[in-house]
Amino acid sequence: MPATVITVTSGKGGVGKTTTTAAFGAALAARGKRVCLVDFDVGLRNLDLVLGIEKRVVFDFLHVASGKAKLSQALIRDKRIDTLYVLATSQTHEKDALSYDDVERVMAMLREEFDYVICDSPAGIEHGAMLALYHADHALVVCNAEISSIRDADRILGFIASKSKRAEEGRDPVQEHLLVTRYDKERVEAGEMLPVSTIREILSAELLGIVPESRAVLKCSNAGLPASFDPTSDVGRAYNDAVSGFLGEAPAGPKVAAEALSQRGFLRRLFRRG
Ligand SMILES: Nc1ncnc2c1ncn2[C@@H]1O[C@H](COP(=O)(O)OP(=O)(O)OP(=O)(O)O)[C@@H](O)[C@H]1O
Ligand SMILES: [Mg+2]
Repeated sequence: MPATVITVTSGKGGVGKTTTTAAFGAALAARGKRVCLVDFDVGLRNLDLVLGIEKRVVFDFLHVASGKAKLSQALIRDKRIDTLYVLATSQTHEKDALSYDDVERVMAMLREEFDYVICDSPAGIEHGAMLALYHADHALVVCNAEISSIRDADRILGFIASKSKRAEEGRDPVQEHLLVTRYDKERVEAGEMLPVSTIREILSAELLGIVPESRAVLKCSNAGLPASFDPTSDVGRAYNDAVSGFLGEAPAGPKVAAEALSQRGFLRRLFRRG
């Protein structure tokens, strides 16, 4: 079966898309799915850094699209999870270096090789973001619990509904999922961030998960590890639960500390709403 394409997108920048692509993709691959993470953020090196593979990048998306490298030469296999691969972005300063035809060709190859292709989009609605969205079967809209982030997420949901290949071809619409990241319960209680209930009132997409603000994320990214690597950390559990939700399974339920259990209860209560 050809791969399912999941595009990780957001209206606002810096909300946690690249962190999510690496963590969600690694958690999916850790379950034995063949997963390829594709970096669409042309000119910026992010995904390879977060996964600690930046020194192994020789060929990238543009090399494959232009026929200068075979897909097999450009795919970088993760050394820890052997069903996880990365296709790095091009380092050109030319932001519009990729065309729709380039992406069409490479996506067709990737769809044959993998179970899931996860596209890490640049923020907003510029060229690279629209390319990343075009082939999506699912869109993972990442937002923070702030009004500007949510307003921009709403705009992106509008684009997903109208600008995807699925929309153009009149097929079933792209399935939209919402992931609230960097969620800080204390700041919500202090009235500095919006509660999830308000976010759900504003945005219609299905809520796939809530990832807490955690220092573990920076630690992981400095160590070149996906944030889902430790499934007993609060962030690791949130990403693993999001993958379970995506696959329609019950949360994995690893042995967790008391504090973690209360966090899970919190998540469950939120999931039960509406
Ligand atoms: N749950 C979290 N807790 C704490 N920090 C986080 C969390 N998620 C992401 N971050 C941090 O937020 C910053 C932005 O994250 P990331 O690069 O994933 O965002 P992005 O949406 O891909 O950004 P861009 O729009 O620039 O591509 C990074 O420094 C990352 O370590
Ligand atoms: Mg990014």
